[in-house]
Amino acid sequence: MMRREALRAAAGLFGVASISAAAAPALPEAKLLERDPETYWARIRKEQFVLPEWRAFLNNGSLGVAPKPVLQAVADFLYKGASMNMPDGEYPRWGYETLDQHREEMAAYLGCRKDDLAFMHNATDALSTIANGIDLNAGDEVVMTDQEHPSGKSGWAVRKARHGIAVREVPIQFPPKDPGEIADRLISAIGPRTRVLFFSGMLSGTGVIAPVRQICDAARAKGVITVVDGAHMNGQIPMRIDALGCDYYAGSPHKWMFAPAGCGILWGREEMLDRLWPAIVTGQWDNKERKAARFMSMGTNNRAIFEGMIAGVRFANAIGPDRIFARIHSLAKGVRERASKLPYLKLMTPDNDSMYGSLVSFEMPGIDGEKFGALCKQRKIWLIGAKRLRVSSHIHTRPSDIDLLFQTLEESRT
Ligand SMILES: Cc1ncc(COP(=O)(O)O)c(C=O)c1O
Repeated sequence: MMRREALRAAAGLFGVASISAAAAPALPEAKLLERDPETYWARIRKEQFVLPEWRAFLNNGSLGVAPKPVLQAVADFLYKGASMNMPDGEYPRWGYETLDQHREEMAAYLGCRKDDLAFMHNATDALSTIANGIDLNAGDEVVMTDQEHPSGKSGWAVRKARHGIAVREVPIQFPPKDPGEIADRLISAIGPRTRVLFFSGMLSGTGVIAPVRQICDAARAKGVITVVDGAHMNGQIPMRIDALGCDYYAGSPHKWMFAPAGCGILWGREEMLDRLWPAIVTGQWDNKERKAARFMSMGTNNRAIFEGMIAGVRFANAIGPDRIFARIHSLAKGVRERASKLPYLKLMTPDNDSMYGSLVSFEMPGIDGEKFGALCKQRKIWLIGAKRLRVSSHIHTRPSDIDLLFQTLEESRT
């Protein structure tokens, strides 16, 4: 195939010819949302995203989808950078700079102070920095749930192999009957050698929300450092980092905050940041006056990604974080209710509205997994999980995507 034809074919496949064709129109008026919410959200999907009509994307929990204003911001910055059309002294990169304005805007969205916030490449980067950066001796113990993502627990596994720390996993039962059950399990597991309590604010795999504040307050009262994996929290549920009560927090804006892939955040309570050792370093690594920006001294990186991330924050603010949450939670609630009525599924998501956001998960004892997988592939349903499914919806999810999922489950019964 000639190059031009190949490009045209690719453009057809992805439904958008180029970034200039991806320019987004203005958001629909908020009045439309009150009058006719389904039309409002259908227009958001069609006009603000480049998702093709044929795609039922239900895996926001692994990586979200960047809307057009984000793609545009990334492309514009790359272009501007390549033309060296920047204000004097400003480089089209990050890795040496403190990016104060960007961090200010992000901090306002996340509910924290700019100086306590560093940009990273992803949650794995932030979690590894934290696990490697806390002073721990042989025999010191880290307690965590048995539900942690490999990116969360592997940093502590390295410390175990390298420095002889102890790691203990606490089993969580699904569905937990109330938030107190998760809190009790974790808090009661704290022992005399426990130095760190590490857990996901929304448990990976199921999306169950842990009572973060309650757990962190109890741990602090016992002199234990708390580390929260918030990969699924920011952008999915209403929250402020500085109200969580933890010592360190890792986030993943490319999941629920419309950021392009390659964006992470590390937050630390001021005095705890001072105690943390950075992992990847260049000059300024020990300049504590830089506060959290010390953790961003890691050499040349692609700043266009962060321009996209901030465009994602603006996009979310323009729609309204409350409206976004109301929509995605109501879609998830619908998924949960439908799943709860099907005898061939076993729900992992509790019947307690405050314990989930937009992730619903269930096991599939009465489903032919192979048939289901093949049908999903054929019908372009993008999901994660073989035995246990995790369904995520975002503002681009159409009710018809969810109908298609349930129709496919029904057709895959054993
Ligand atoms: C709970 C949790 N923590 C950490 C990660 C890793 O995130 P990232 O890919 O941004 O490093 C994930 C990714 O799915 C996750 O679900």
